[in-house]
Amino acid sequence: MTNEIDQDVLDRGRRALLGGWSATGKTNIVMTKAKGSKIWDIDGHEYVDMTSQAWSNNIGASDDRVIEATSAQARELSHLRSNYDSIPLLRLADRLTAAAPEGLGKVSFCLHGSLAVETAVKLALKNSETPGPVIVLNDSYHGRSFAGMGLSWPHAERKFDQFIPSVIRVRQPYTYRAPEGVTPAEWAERCADELREAIRACHTKKPSAFIMEPVQGNGTQLDFPREYYQLVREICTEHDIFLIFDEIQTGFGRTGEMWAAEYYGVTPDIIVFGKGAGGGFPLAGVIARSDLEGFAPGDDALTFGEFPLSLVAGLTTLDIIESDGLLENCAEMGAYATRRLRELQDQHPLIGEVRGPGLLIGVELVLDRELKTPALDATLEVYERGLRRGVIFGETRYSRLGNVIKFKPPLVVTREEMDHAIQVFDAILTELETELGMGA
Ligand SMILES: Cc1ncc(COP(=O)(O)O)c(C=O)c1O
Repeated sequence: MTNEIDQDVLDRGRRALLGGWSATGKTNIVMTKAKGSKIWDIDGHEYVDMTSQAWSNNIGASDDRVIEATSAQARELSHLRSNYDSIPLLRLADRLTAAAPEGLGKVSFCLHGSLAVETAVKLALKNSETPGPVIVLNDSYHGRSFAGMGLSWPHAERKFDQFIPSVIRVRQPYTYRAPEGVTPAEWAERCADELREAIRACHTKKPSAFIMEPVQGNGTQLDFPREYYQLVREICTEHDIFLIFDEIQTGFGRTGEMWAAEYYGVTPDIIVFGKGAGGGFPLAGVIARSDLEGFAPGDDALTFGEFPLSLVAGLTTLDIIESDGLLENCAEMGAYATRRLRELQDQHPLIGEVRGPGLLIGVELVLDRELKTPALDATLEVYERGLRRGVIFGETRYSRLGNVIKFKPPLVVTREEMDHAIQVFDAILTELETELGMGA
């Protein structure tokens, strides 16, 4: 492959890029091909992908059915002004609302999660008697548009503040790091109390919405005690505040249910979806309560927001999740990997906690189990050494800690691929513990 492409062109291209993504690892890798849970680089190295490429290839990379459906659509109609309706638009609106939790019967599409988050917030403001602030959780991630940055845990560098809306932040129930002696249920209760207090403290302007990721992805891959979901629902209802679930990572089957809302048995007022929705094509949007007032002309319009190819890819993705039993495979592979990783915990002092439902698995690495000191360098090393052994591990580099390895492969992942990733992880931890002088 390298012979066919002029290396100088690639080098010039790289130098021309403005960048901006969180940089992982020491080397830039050019990827050229992906299929299912595997991906190949320009030099022909094969990797099992535990990241689903930013948690997006839920149905696996380059599914033939998506390729066929989108190619057929491209030959008919690839772009359409949003003043007009396309058949894929109407079909997906119908299909997706049918697949949504009960009571959520309105939908809107765009191409990026960050914009979908903004649409959700706009909808909450539009439907509030007196539009007010938005409450978010610590370590949240909601995107990199200006509003998305405002809703996310702040960057250390605050250069963009001028255009970033301010929000109210409350603590999330991070049970592994709860005060000693406090049970998960108690910690959930106390964190929910903080939300209640934050709402009460807004004397002059009632908040319009509380937005949360049901499982925090970028922020340490964190799920919460079940009680917490119920509590936030009750609090939002009691105070008449919109509950928004940012399901950009958790939706489209990653918990083993179609939506985390279903997995946790709590229905929000608005769901934001993205990533896995388009089977590798850009597709995001919101699904909202049927009784909410929709947008007026000019409230929400994007040139490529209703891109027919992405909408067809979304329809095909829904078909594939259903016909290939991907929710079942996700639940089965997730339970299997979680059990095996918890077994490894007995042998590896670096493993502090294994958490997460379905294929949303986070393994928190610590240098000392008593002190829970984040093993930052070791986490990056797992990523680096994984690459050399044919596995791409996910890792946190965004939140305050940055010491979590993630196992979030496509939902089509096989037992063999999962075993390979776990074996490589096991071997790397053994090496690192020897180097760090850590005994089991
Ligand atoms: C929970 C969550 N919300 C929002 C976003 C932003 O989505 P996008 O990168 O498609 O704009 C992401 C992306 O990682 C995400 O994980």
